[in-house]
Amino acid sequence: MTGEQLPAFRDDLELTLAECWRLLQEGATSRHSAFHVPTVATLDEHGLPELRTMVLRAAEPERRLLRFHTDRRSAKIAQVARSPAGAIHIYDKPSGIQLRLAASLSIEMDGDEVEAAWDASRSFSRICYRVTKAPGAEVEHPDAVAFDHDAADEGRGQFCILLARVHRIEWLHLAHAGHRRAVFELNDEDAAEAEWTGRWLVP
Ligand SMILES: Cc1cc2nc3c(=O)[nH]c(=O)nc-3n(C[C@H](O)[C@H](O)[C@H](O)COP(=O)(O)O)c2cc1C
Repeated sequence: MTGEQLPAFRDDLELTLAECWRLLQEGATSRHSAFHVPTVATLDEHGLPELRTMVLRAAEPERRLLRFHTDRRSAKIAQVARSPAGAIHIYDKPSGIQLRLAASLSIEMDGDEVEAAWDASRSFSRICYRVTKAPGAEVEHPDAVAFDHDAADEGRGQFCILLARVHRIEWLHLAHAGHRRAVFELNDEDAAEAEWTGRWLVP
């Protein structure tokens, strides 16, 4: 007996899947959570993976959706337009939990969801979207990065959302009592009512 309190989800696939989405939802609201800043992968023009950290803004288990905010001039936009193939990675050291998600990515520039996301964004976050050159553009000197602080739209014209529709979740939980690894896949990726099927894997 180690006296270690074992989580209820440990030997239960349904509870493990619920824990995945609980952690993602917590990540969207708590900046102290490791799930707040996942690594998002896209494919570049050569079909090679490109990774970057992004702030997770929303997680909706019902729609299997994660939402991120970005600048529509950034390199990842053209990459997503070319290929929707995406992957997301998170590792939370305190809990020993790693999530690896496969997702179909899309960019939304207009519409209710984009307006709501912009309306909810803080004025501090909006400053990024007022940078005059495209993110990733070369500059002579770091001080040459300019912002249009008088932009009538406060930068809304450069703002967009990146949606990740998750179709595979791989869970890894490192624990003294024994590691756990599971994969969850959809029975029909395209169906609105698609159901997750989980299987245990050798960690
Ligand atoms: C902690 C952290 C949070 C970040 N959040 C975002 C974000 O929410 N959206 C974003 O576009 N870039 C974010 N970035 C910057 C990206 O990692 C990346 O450098 C930038 O988006 C350019 O990527 P791209 O050239 O592949 O488009 C963040 C970086 C860090 C370190």
